[in-house]
Amino acid sequence: DYYQEPYRPQFHFSPEANWMNDPNGMVYYEGEYHLFYQYHPEGNTWGPMHWGHAISQDLVHWEHLPIALYPDKFGTIFSGSAVADLKNTSGLGTEENPPLIAIFTYHDAEAEKAGAIDFQTQGIAYSLDKGRTWEKYENNPVLKNPGIKDFRDPKVMWYEDNDGKGKWIMSLAVKDRISFYSSENLIDWEYESDFQPLWAAYGGVWECPDLFKVKSPDGIDKWVLFVSINPGGPNGGSATQYFVGDFDGMEFTTTEEEVKWLDYGADNYAGVTWSNVPKEDGRVLFIGWMSNWDYANVVPTEVWRSAKTIPRSLELFEIAGRSYLASKPVKELDKLKGNTLDLQGNEIELEHELLEMALVIEEADFEFELSNEAGESVTLKRIDDKIYFDRSNSGKTDFEVAFKKLHTAPDLGINFKELRVFLDKASIEFFFNEGELVLTEIIFPTQPYSKLKTKGFGDSKKVHQLKSIW
Ligand code: FRU
Repeated sequence: DYYQEPYRPQFHFSPEANWMNDPNGMVYYEGEYHLFYQYHPEGNTWGPMHWGHAISQDLVHWEHLPIALYPDKFGTIFSGSAVADLKNTSGLGTEENPPLIAIFTYHDAEAEKAGAIDFQTQGIAYSLDKGRTWEKYENNPVLKNPGIKDFRDPKVMWYEDNDGKGKWIMSLAVKDRISFYSSENLIDWEYESDFQPLWAAYGGVWECPDLFKVKSPDGIDKWVLFVSINPGGPNGGSATQYFVGDFDGMEFTTTEEEVKWLDYGADNYAGVTWSNVPKEDGRVLFIGWMSNWDYANVVPTEVWRSAKTIPRSLELFEIAGRSYLASKPVKELDKLKGNTLDLQGNEIELEHELLEMALVIEEADFEFELSNEAGESVTLKRIDDKIYFDRSNSGKTDFEVAFKKLHTAPDLGINFKELRVFLDKASIEFFFNEGELVLTEIIFPTQPYSKLKTKGFGDSKKVHQLKSIW
């Protein structure tokens, strides 16, 4: 009977206790998915950052491990990534036992208080025992600050060019641009270029970049660059924009001059992809932080604060010749399915709290409403060419005014065919057409939702009862 507190997510990752934000250091190695995360072990609000740690063999069930990285004399440990240095380019392991390397931002709060501006630098740490223990590199920091306040969140990938030669590429968030650096050994970094198009979203500081390769539907390699911004998201607060283009080992370029958002819900931030996923698998695997800086520190939970999204696999699709990213719930989530009910009609009683629902969209305008006996409800609807999500009467909402805001999403010209909904104790995630449009939202009903009312969907609704992962 672990984790039974009110609002404790049952199939989303959350820390046992205390504050969590961004996912960090996601790397697959020797049969294990590692998930590190921004963690404040001393309290349930944001504070001096450590890297918490968990592992999974299936992306769904997680085992909590001890804190992996603690602050040291260079600062607290902000967001970053991890790679498997299989060729031992760093020399920090051996070829027989290659090191896992974590690349993170040191945030020197003392220096910041004293008025310095160069208080964010990049450091590395390595593990020779499958991530169980970590040693900081002896000559940290490996990338010093050039004199700019926001200089953080290194995401590193192995880049291989056509002649088979490779190098490490670091994407770094630098205030209002992404800077790329390269290295042969993860220790000596060389500046390559900046990405800062005029037409991008600049409503807030740029954070948590991720650069990765993904195949287009016709099998062509394309590059995607994630940039999380806070504030300035399409529905207020923090959100993740992305660019689809090309990367030549030095520069990222794109011809599609359009701001694209990964998720139109308010609660998917700072997400990035796993590194070292086996080639045979071939998926681009993603998890995000399921909260928003507008209210993350004051959501009504006490023991722990915040959870991750369900894991998703990212794929490109096209609308009118432009490329967009779809976020599909990973197939491993099917393991959670218990009873499946085929329910008919537009008013359905729900007897279970953890659900996945599959609905067929039959009319252009549709409406989906969940409600409980306390008169609380959430609604998702489409009217004309827009999607609306309303959680203003969803349960507890008064911890922050911004939480009650009506969320909207454009229809992007998608031909809406089906909707999948994942309902946990304190979240609801909507996936249209295998993730072509996604809304990830947290909610705090005071009683379980017990009724589903719909309009514009097929009569038969598949409702899967889901099992807890704990
Ligand atoms: C994003 C972020 C990162 C930073 C971390 C600090 O949510 O602000 O830019 O590294 O959180 O916890």
